Amino acid sequence: MSSFQSPQPQSLPPRYFEEMYSENPDPWQFETSEYEAKKYAATVAALPKPIYRSAFEIGGSIGVLTQKLADRCENLLSVDVSQVAQAKAIERCQNLSQVRFEIMQVPQQFPDEQFDLILVSEVGYYLSKQDLQTTQSHILNHLEIGGHLLLVHWTLYARDYPLSGDEVHDSFLALSAEQLTSRSLRHLAGQREEQYRLDLFERVS
Ligand SMILES: C[S@@+](CC[C@H](N)C(=O)[O-])C[C@H]1O[C@@H](n2cnc3c(N)ncnc32)[C@H](O)[C@@H]1O
Repeated sequence: MSSFQSPQPQSLPPRYFEEMYSENPDPWQFETSEYEAKKYAATVAALPKPIYRSAFEIGGSIGVLTQKLADRCENLLSVDVSQVAQAKAIERCQNLSQVRFEIMQVPQQFPDEQFDLILVSEVGYYLSKQDLQTTQSHILNHLEIGGHLLLVHWTLYARDYPLSGDEVHDSFLALSAEQLTSRSLRHLAGQREEQYRLDLFERVS
């Protein structure tokens, strides 16, 4: 019997996304897809508070969801690994003074701020298991008590992706079930649609 074990998949590197956006400025049809428009409406509708003081969006891409989210935020920091994508987001949100943009690779980089909302939409499955764990730890350290964490991910199979959407959500649910850590999350709501899943958490301690 062979003792060979395949290595754990690594996080997809920034160049994977940069090349994708250079070939196609809107590879997931965020601007035009009815599916995305409905999912974005469900995402914004899932936010319990009318207004957030300071929100953080990981993987903002070309800014279609960023623009919608901005209506609910006094301050919104949107980060992405792709310069090409973020240039479009900056253009789209140029009249929204509450929105800031930075090029950042999570979890190797993470803002030095506290947030009352963190949005992880369609980005967690690009991370390795280890990077997702590190991201979870950063999120817990940078989400205020009472702050919300919203996850939204596609749940079908994608060959290139290190994790599935379900693995991302289930790992946050497992974290919320742990009572051992000093910082903890409570699961507030979950919604599963045909092709995506949405889960909302609150930091309770
Ligand atoms: C599928 S898009 C999601 C866009 C948007 N959040 C949405 O839901 O419509 C994923 C984005 O995450 C970015 N991304 C991937 N890995 C990242 C990382 N480690 N840190 C920050 N951004 C990342 C990609 O460049 C891409 O623009």
